[in-house]
Amino acid sequence: MAKDIPLNERIIFALDVSSREEAKRWVETLEAHTRFFKVGLQLFLVGWFDIVEWICNRGLKVFVDLKFFDVPETVKLAVKALTDRGVTFATVHGNDAMLRSAVEAAQDVQILAVTVLTSLDEADMRDLGFQCSVRDLVLSRAKRALEIGCSGVISSGLEAPMLRKALGGNFLVVAPGIRPVKNTDDQKRTVDVKEAFENGADYIVVGRPIRDASDPVAVIKNMQAQIRSVISCSQ
Ligand code: C5P
Repeated sequence: MAKDIPLNERIIFALDVSSREEAKRWVETLEAHTRFFKVGLQLFLVGWFDIVEWICNRGLKVFVDLKFFDVPETVKLAVKALTDRGVTFATVHGNDAMLRSAVEAAQDVQILAVTVLTSLDEADMRDLGFQCSVRDLVLSRAKRALEIGCSGVISSGLEAPMLRKALGGNFLVVAPGIRPVKNTDDQKRTVDVKEAFENGADYIVVGRPIRDASDPVAVIKNMQAQIRSVISCSQ
């Protein structure tokens, strides 16, 4: 089931930082070890297209994680604006019509559907008015996203086995919420690196566990050793 994704692209580092200079410093520090970077809301708000271009020009990959959720026409125009910028993945967090607009507008970018944020648990779902379980919602959203033509989904590693069993191996599972042990921050549906890949994830998204470490490169190397112990992949 393992896809031909090199080890140094399996960890997508979340560039959740407050300035472009800081983002560049992180890329320069980590690029010899991991070659995939996620640009999200925080960096977007300080101006990001030139950062995306700067990262892509270094031969690295970029995941634009803005979780588009808007009327279909606006989602379409937003996805269109990503054309020809070297972006690999973009996220949409919406219903079928939004996903369809995104997929139709996508030219050189792959659309990933957010299923249920990894910071939400069953109690949060009740608060939001959902009657179904997290697992049922993840499965139903993933199924529809793939039927519509998304390249894959963002899901917790906890739900990855269910997704693989129900929907097969021919789509991407990108798993945030990676934590080494029982967790106390805002991420609630967490798994560790090994579990994520054993469960069927293709990529993991990692921010704080690397960013807050005293030796971020050592954390990446350790994570890559764990990945290699679970799946075979080229460098
Ligand atoms: O710091 P941490 O490892 O929790 O970072 C996870 C990253 O993944 C954040 O940038 C967050 O926005 C993103 N993300 C997530 N859950 C999702 C989709 C994206 O945590 N379902």
